[in-house]
Amino acid sequence: MNKPVSEARAPDFYHYDANPLSSALCEGDFVHLRWPDDTTLACHRYWLRENSVGQGGIDIATREGLLDPAHLTDDMIVSSAVVDDAGDLIVEWADDAQRSVYHAGWLYHVADNQHRPNSWLPDARAWTSESIGQVPRVNGSAALEDDDAILSLLNHLVTHGACVLENSPTREGYLLELAQRIGPVRDSNFGALWDVLADVALAGDAKTNSTANTGLRLGPHSDLPTREIPPGFQFLHCLVNEAEGGESTLTDGAALVEALERDHPEAFELLYTRHWIFFNRGPGIDHRWSAPIIDYLPGSDVPTLRAFYPVRAFPAMATEDIGRSYDALRLFHRLADKPEFELKFRLTAGDIMCFDNRRILHGRDAFTGSGKRHLQGVYIDRDEILSRGRALNRAAGLHR
Ligand SMILES: [Fe+2]
Repeated sequence: MNKPVSEARAPDFYHYDANPLSSALCEGDFVHLRWPDDTTLACHRYWLRENSVGQGGIDIATREGLLDPAHLTDDMIVSSAVVDDAGDLIVEWADDAQRSVYHAGWLYHVADNQHRPNSWLPDARAWTSESIGQVPRVNGSAALEDDDAILSLLNHLVTHGACVLENSPTREGYLLELAQRIGPVRDSNFGALWDVLADVALAGDAKTNSTANTGLRLGPHSDLPTREIPPGFQFLHCLVNEAEGGESTLTDGAALVEALERDHPEAFELLYTRHWIFFNRGPGIDHRWSAPIIDYLPGSDVPTLRAFYPVRAFPAMATEDIGRSYDALRLFHRLADKPEFELKFRLTAGDIMCFDNRRILHGRDAFTGSGKRHLQGVYIDRDEILSRGRALNRAAGLHR
């Protein structure tokens, strides 16, 4: 006997395997679904109406919703809900006698939480220098064509917040081509692709607009805390590194915050609640933002660290809290630079150091000598990293 063919279409463009329902029960405003493995899902009648494909709910061409909530009416009532021979859900509506078909495999993916933002992505794992040993490395020699290299990079970035793509070509501008394999880059007043070129300027030289373009040490920090939402990720491409010194550092802020909360709760409280004003000085620009050093942006489990002291300008807290907040800040930065938390390594030509700019603190030792040191950088927002990561993991059937 032939298996019944499903006539259901999903409200998106992904493929869903058949996953026949065992029952559908209409009760009040909800249709209660059950599968043979006892997974259940309660579907509100308006949600079902919104997700009815091709019948005023979801547009066939765009697979986007068409229903303005102002047009949901009281008489959009489910008159019957049954499971058809293919195991899909059939709903009949009281108001217009229309019949909607729902793909049981798609419904199951909702019941199984595969629709949530953290699905199709690995979990974040905090690390210390001992637990991780060294920064994860991926061969990037063919990253422009090789989806596996991009997938591996993205999964390291979500899990550990950092990864070095090694053996990359050393031509200027390559970084933009690589980033565009993931998504659009995030522009700023430094440009979409910016240079860290140490031999063009010294501290105090009018030619430079950033401490990054000097040979000075840069303690552990995160870029652009002057923005409401700082760039999610930063890629730094080493084109040449012949300078003496200039080792790079990475510290996992997630582990640092865990340790602060556990061992120094008063300092954590001050860093988490008291505000500072971050301020970009520059001709024609006036970026500024007020926020705590440890900033949990809405919807994120991983803290955003606003730790770039060159642009931290003013305490914005009660006068009596300023001294204690400085003490907490001193502790935070001392811990961030401890070997227990900080990886230190030398970038060589062809390395692209990629990291979560909001979770991971990056820095570099001072460097001297006549040797050239030239890096190019881009910012790319978290949305792009996570979107591409989900799409590639989904195609590979990973991290559901
Ligand atoms: Fe930086």
